[in-house]
Amino acid sequence: MKKKKKLKKIWIIILVVLVLLLIYPTYLSCRIVAKDYKASSIYNIVTKGIKDEVIANEYSKTVEVAVNSKDFVKDNLDSYFKINYVDKDSFIDRINKLLKIGYSVDDINLINEKLSDEMVTSLYSHDFISDISSYMAFDFFKSDNLYRYIDYFYDDYKDAVVKVNIGLDKPLYEDVNVIDTFSETVLANKYNKLSENFEPKNLTAINSEFTKGTATQYLSKVANDAFLELCQSALNDNMHILANSAYRSYSDQQIVYDTYLNLYGQNYVDNYVAVPGYSEHQTGLALDVASRDYNTFKASPEYKWMLENAYKYGFILRYQEEKQDITGYKYEAWHYRYVGKEIAKYIKENNITYDEYYVMFLDK
Ligand code: DAL
Ligand code: ZN
Repeated sequence: MKKKKKLKKIWIIILVVLVLLLIYPTYLSCRIVAKDYKASSIYNIVTKGIKDEVIANEYSKTVEVAVNSKDFVKDNLDSYFKINYVDKDSFIDRINKLLKIGYSVDDINLINEKLSDEMVTSLYSHDFISDISSYMAFDFFKSDNLYRYIDYFYDDYKDAVVKVNIGLDKPLYEDVNVIDTFSETVLANKYNKLSENFEPKNLTAINSEFTKGTATQYLSKVANDAFLELCQSALNDNMHILANSAYRSYSDQQIVYDTYLNLYGQNYVDNYVAVPGYSEHQTGLALDVASRDYNTFKASPEYKWMLENAYKYGFILRYQEEKQDITGYKYEAWHYRYVGKEIAKYIKENNITYDEYYVMFLDK
């Protein structure tokens, strides 16, 4: 009697174990599926021995793609969990290669977000770039320029990215971008040329009360309106600001250039006069100002007034002191450019050039 009871107990235990064994895979599947993995991924998750990690971690599309990929490497599992999925061919192979070179998961996330496929491929045959993320950190990082940034870098990542984007790692007038159409924020410098046909929008005559000499001067309407406002406000402070030279067509600039070249030579024009096509005067947004009562603008009270107030009307001093390495021109106390109030304020407050502002915020 006692023996029979014992036997029954054993049978019950066997039955319970059997039932547990039977429902365990279902239970496991439910837990994995509950993490959002597809039912079709469960087999690979279990057979590749990563079920515990899958259950312990948040759902990761990268892990799901990895576990179903021929390139799955179990040692990289922790990294797969931290790498944001991007829809790319051979994505897992890419991650494996980058991890092998030494890139961190943070590097890889930035690489996937910021580098073109061609540049990613180029990394495979390049030495490990330990500070790659320091370049990619900027919104204005450009994938194609990565190796140029690295070559140019001295001690400041932002400086390297900004200056290379301007083109300063190359000789002046090399790889020039040619512009045909007007915009209020157009950039003209020694890497950005206005075509011979480039014309400003709505050229209008500057009120003759505010021009020096008798020749009519023109600006694009938006700049002209702002200049009028500036001149009238200046008058309230007893300052007499006049337009000396505003819009100059491509051929006007040729005349100016040749005149100064003949008078003062090549070195002078290289520093002070734009080659036709490269002049901001052709944009209709720039002008040289003068004081009514002083021959030398820099000696006039108007010069100081402009330094302090021009930004309120949307104008910036375009060729600042000590910035020739960026602008390509020596200091011009008289040359102002209309960029709009918001940009002018930012440039003044941050003491940067328009070339820098442009590559940081406008060059999409
Ligand atoms: N003086 C400036 C640089 C120009 O010629 O446009
Ligand atoms: Zn000028």
